[in-house]
Amino acid sequence: MSTALQKTYDPVKYKTPTGNKISCKGWIQEAALRMLLNNLNPEVAERPDDLIVYGGRGKAARNFEALDNIIAALKVLENDESLLIQSGKPVAILKTHKDAPRVLISNSQLVPNWANWKHFEELEKKGLMMYGQMTAGSWIYIGSQGIVQGTYETYAAIADKHFAGEIRNKKQETIDGKQETENGQWATGNGEQVTDNKEQGTRNNGSLKGTLNVTAGLGGMGGAQPLAITMNEGVALIAEVEEWRIDKRIETRYLDEKFTDIDEAIDRALQYKTEGKAKSIGVLCNAVHLLQRLYERNVIPDTLTDQTSAHDPLIGYIPHTLTNEQANVLREQNKEQYLELAYDSMYLHVQLMLQLMDKGAITFDYGNNIRARAQEYEESQKSKGKSQKELTIQHSTFNIQHNRNFDFPGFVPAYIRPLFCLGKGPFRWAALSGDPADIASTDELIMNMFPQNKGMIRWMKMAKEKIAFQGLPARICWLGQGEREKAGLAFNELVRTGKVKAPIVIGRDHLDTGSVASPNRETEAMMDGSDAVADWPILNALVNTAGGASWVSLHHGGGVGMGYSIHAGMVIVADGTDDAEQRLKRVLRNDPGMGVIRHADAGYELAKETAKENNLDLTARLKK
Ligand SMILES: NC(=O)c1ccc[n+]([C@@H]2O[C@H](COP(=O)([O-])OP(=O)(O)OC[C@H]3O[C@@H](n4cnc5c(N)ncnc54)[C@H](O)[C@@H]3O)[C@@H](O)[C@H]2O)c1
Repeated sequence: MSTALQKTYDPVKYKTPTGNKISCKGWIQEAALRMLLNNLNPEVAERPDDLIVYGGRGKAARNFEALDNIIAALKVLENDESLLIQSGKPVAILKTHKDAPRVLISNSQLVPNWANWKHFEELEKKGLMMYGQMTAGSWIYIGSQGIVQGTYETYAAIADKHFAGEIRNKKQETIDGKQETENGQWATGNGEQVTDNKEQGTRNNGSLKGTLNVTAGLGGMGGAQPLAITMNEGVALIAEVEEWRIDKRIETRYLDEKFTDIDEAIDRALQYKTEGKAKSIGVLCNAVHLLQRLYERNVIPDTLTDQTSAHDPLIGYIPHTLTNEQANVLREQNKEQYLELAYDSMYLHVQLMLQLMDKGAITFDYGNNIRARAQEYEESQKSKGKSQKELTIQHSTFNIQHNRNFDFPGFVPAYIRPLFCLGKGPFRWAALSGDPADIASTDELIMNMFPQNKGMIRWMKMAKEKIAFQGLPARICWLGQGEREKAGLAFNELVRTGKVKAPIVIGRDHLDTGSVASPNRETEAMMDGSDAVADWPILNALVNTAGGASWVSLHHGGGVGMGYSIHAGMVIVADGTDDAEQRLKRVLRNDPGMGVIRHADAGYELAKETAKENNLDLTARLKK
């Protein structure tokens, strides 16, 4: 094992190899090496010096020594062996077989009774664990593009649902638990109607033109918001406390303008709204201050959400009572006090969201668990015996309302679940050659393969025009059951016939149809109440291992924080061989298939139909 004592990111040593010559013993190991280094490429990662890729403290390797050892291990790994990674550190190379995954990864797993940030932090401090987020620790992060299409589709669904005028009579899927009232507000009730059609992206042609869309956080994932909103023709107004993040999004063409004065930013956003211009504005301020000012000026956003890293109160959320510099100092010096301020602030943040929602803003949680943080705050105050009056935060200029933290929905039950029922999710691929022309070839292939999929074609055209690659050229595109398998096999053919210069690596986010249990996000308000059942992501990891994915990972806490989720990752390499063809057939059928089965089991009719159409229905099979 290497003895190097690397302390910071070295761009020369850790440069991602490109081209078609390899330094490992096979293309799968080489793919893992390139994707690991690509995750850490400064164009891709948020803070490579800390090995942090995105999402608060989501890391690709535990420390630099572990990183060096992973690189060394991938280079000696044989084609019938598997490398085992325990929370970002290589721990063994074991004999398996040629179709087994070359790498098996487990990140941040804790026994449920200990599954909280406090215990995790003790272990992290001792160097025993790291937080893998979702695609950070599973080596398939591709920069902000990875989330753009999901964010674009979410805002497109919002546009269809709330700004398309008359809702068309489309095939509808009922989602239990909550209901949208006539004026577009959210209320608990009998069941929600979400329009969707079997053809991905079939839309009511709603647009966000002339709407003001307010949110916060321009980090790795949040940075996708401005582009996704302007792609839907809306105005984006986004609070961000770190100036370099705003600058980075402008440099990579995700964001249009920067403001340092809140009122000026609001005025400019309103001007663009009136003119119907699709523009995005990053304003250097705390989210709480932006919302407070909107509230005071009675400027009601058309849509309102948040993508600060509230899932991680210590590292990911900056309290409104501190400057960035003060936050960095206090976090080190007095963790408890920092957490207290962060919770105060997140509570006020949610309260402001509720107040603006009550005045008409379409409000939703965008997967950072901020509602749960507010709930935890309220519960901890009550358990300390504090009275209702003491719960009120001094700086607020309105009445605090209790027991309302979950009054606005998460984005999955509100907008995404019907897609999950079709096995759809964030399919992605990267060109290991490093040549953008290879992605152009795959783009063309995908558009020719699925001409009926109008939503996808529209997305691909916009992506080609507007998305700047970060690191290895890559593409994301939501594909469903059947489509992913076809695409994977076609990519393998491109490699076999030399139409691309090196193999293509195929993967997905863990935020997918069948790979995650996360009751405040992907599995919120499941029809049968099975939100917290985590057997599904574990079965997903097992079946992908059995099917021969190239690397498989099982994580805890991604997206929403410790104790709130279990999820699995999958990557498979199309290297043009017959073996790869067999593996691709199995894995790219079974992986989304798990999502269809999971949703059918929960009672969703659309998923049951999809299961039948794709021969995934167990009852039908048993009758044969
Ligand atoms: N909706 C989805 O599909 C989805 C997908 C992935 C991640 N997420 C979640 O979204 C959140 C953001 O992810 P990311 O990768 O962008 O994280 P990140 O840590 O890279 O970025 C968070 C950003 O929020 C800023 N910030 C923190 N507190 C703030 C405050 N009070 N006001 C204004 N800005 C503040 C930070 O400066 C940082 O730029 C995470 O909680 C993540 O788990 C959602």
